[in-house]
Amino acid sequence: MANLHCEQLLRQMTTREKLAQLLQVTPISIGYHLLTDLTGPDAGLRLQAQDARRVGSLLNCAGAEVTRSLQKDFLASNPQGIPLLFMADVLHGFRTIFPVPLAMGCTFAPALAEQAASIAASESAASGIHVVFAPMADLVRDPRWGRVTESFGEDPLLCGLFAAAMVLGYQGRDVCQEGRVAACVKHFAGYGAPEGGREYAAAELSESTFSEMYLPPYQAAIQAGAKMVMASFNAMGGVPATANRRLLEDVLRKAWGFTGCIISDYNAVDELRFHGVATDGQSAAARALQAGIQIEMMSTHFLDHGESLLQQGEWTHEGLDEAVLSVLELKAELGLFENPYKDASTQQEQKLHLCEPHRAFARECAQKAPVLLKNENAALPISSNEPFCLSGPFADDPHVLGAWSAGCTDGVSLMRGLQDAGASAIHHIPMQPLQSMQNGPFQPVLSYAATLKASPPDTQKIVLAIGEHQNDTGEGASKACLRLTSGQEELVRAAKALGKTVIAVVFSGRPLELSPILANCDAVLQAWFLGTESGNALADLLLGKASPSGKLCMSFPRSVGQIPVYYNQPRTGRPLSASSTRYASRYLDCPNEPLFPFGHGLAYGRCALKSIAWDDEETPLLRAEIAHESGLPYQETVQLYVRQEAASRSRPEKSLKGFLSVSLSPGDSHTLSFPIAQDMLTFPLDGAQVFEEGFFTFEVGFSSARTQALKRFISKEEFSKLKRSIQHA
Ligand code: GLC
Repeated sequence: MANLHCEQLLRQMTTREKLAQLLQVTPISIGYHLLTDLTGPDAGLRLQAQDARRVGSLLNCAGAEVTRSLQKDFLASNPQGIPLLFMADVLHGFRTIFPVPLAMGCTFAPALAEQAASIAASESAASGIHVVFAPMADLVRDPRWGRVTESFGEDPLLCGLFAAAMVLGYQGRDVCQEGRVAACVKHFAGYGAPEGGREYAAAELSESTFSEMYLPPYQAAIQAGAKMVMASFNAMGGVPATANRRLLEDVLRKAWGFTGCIISDYNAVDELRFHGVATDGQSAAARALQAGIQIEMMSTHFLDHGESLLQQGEWTHEGLDEAVLSVLELKAELGLFENPYKDASTQQEQKLHLCEPHRAFARECAQKAPVLLKNENAALPISSNEPFCLSGPFADDPHVLGAWSAGCTDGVSLMRGLQDAGASAIHHIPMQPLQSMQNGPFQPVLSYAATLKASPPDTQKIVLAIGEHQNDTGEGASKACLRLTSGQEELVRAAKALGKTVIAVVFSGRPLELSPILANCDAVLQAWFLGTESGNALADLLLGKASPSGKLCMSFPRSVGQIPVYYNQPRTGRPLSASSTRYASRYLDCPNEPLFPFGHGLAYGRCALKSIAWDDEETPLLRAEIAHESGLPYQETVQLYVRQEAASRSRPEKSLKGFLSVSLSPGDSHTLSFPIAQDMLTFPLDGAQVFEEGFFTFEVGFSSARTQALKRFISKEEFSKLKRSIQHA
């Protein structure tokens, strides 16, 4: 439907009807007593009848039957026949749940995320959803923040590639197509940098860090065509994103050319009062509208005060019409005026939700996301007829889907996965599942070690499934302490004291503080929360049917005292070196390096980086010779990092600028080529990407800390001959 129809509709609408179109509430707020998963404070919003049938969109209402009947009933009393938009959080799957985004980031395979998003789109569209609040493109560096689980980690290139891939997966070529939904990229911007890792705290970032590290992933999602952007809760420099016109207008619209719809986060307009930039609902509405917010989620100040603001000249009818048109045009793009039910179909739900092909792909993703952090003394893999002991609170716990999966079918537990995989001699020592801290920080300390001592069967290996409760990750789940709770550290010590080969499988939505258990573990497999197929995928890995291949997209700190610790650190004038004296950048009580660095990940095989060399035949190309050295076949991800030695602005220690994944079998050797492109060598300065000629160090390796390096002078003339950019894996 052309914009003409939207313009005609606009002309038929009263001011109050236009204001209601900018409102997003839950069904109960407009009189439909449907239980939906509240994703924020319950303010008990209830609209008057005259407004209830004029709102523009509903939040977190899903189900073919529910959405069809609600839409039908709603349209019967909407004067212009403007359908509702149904929007929901679909972050890593809808009913078939994929690994949490932080785990998907460790695959270093954006194409997997794109296909996962496409599957999630088909399942959610079948349940009547039109817009998903995803991808989350917030760069993160602080694992105390519970929402790192929703992010793709600490690197701007990787975050951007994954965010863009998910937009393409959700939206396809045309959101009007069957099985496609509009993507709402969030949370714009800088929400991933809350001070102290404390949820909703301010993000205090320098302009250069903000523009070089935090903005690029959102921009990549916008360039991929995201139809909507959600402004973030956080303030930066004293201005909340919800009231930040420079961010929403100057950066998002003018500099990046975004023409879609901008929505607030949940009740964020009202919360401008608590930020201290508004004194009441009316001034909150004014600040948000003037900044460029177009849909108000879960508060009603636009509706309550919009007419006064127009009368007082604090807002304009042009601004109002522009916002309403933005919503109507999205509905038109989705084809809702022709078919307000779009893809909502119970038959499609039954056909698609948790169907075998979707589960099979979820299993493939879940196999590629775990990261083997340590593997010594032939701990892993376990042969399927080898007797071993399985214990720990997550051993037979199916609650391993991860955050934002409320209402979904439980995942496959590790125990069930091992049994179904034919592990014939499992001695399971059952333990009580971990309790969530959401019900209060002082949960009874469960002493797991005592249970273990009571009945250790005569086996050499013990697999301990440990970690954090999935409800203690995601929104509202910041932690000041990242150590394993409830006696899990003692459990690992007890297992080692029994003389066992200890294999820790860690279920968490963030990097936890594993230093206290590392020495007592022969192997550590970071399992994250892997979704529906968790246990099956982990069984594939533990039993050697596949080798782990994940690479960390977020560093693991040695202790919470090290945070923030990330690989692309700014430089210092007193770097620590072997010859350093007291006066160097360091701690007295802890190394500078993280426990496990960005890009780290072991496998059941090893390969050697034989050499790296320049090939300048045509354009500068870095060639890396690698060869499988030992062990089983596996997938290696070889990484390229670049660092500019000196520039008008100090450049980071190093930056990921490329990566290639290669399958390796015994005897294999490969020559990998890394073409050098302009966008690897520039950096943002005063709003533009600039190149300054000079020496650059190029590093190739298997993690950010395991590389070989070559230094090279790149002149302006040489730079001008380089390709602008290259296609990443
Ligand atoms: C929440 C989250 C946001 C989510 C929204 C709607 O508060 O911040 O990520 O999309 O509300 O559920």
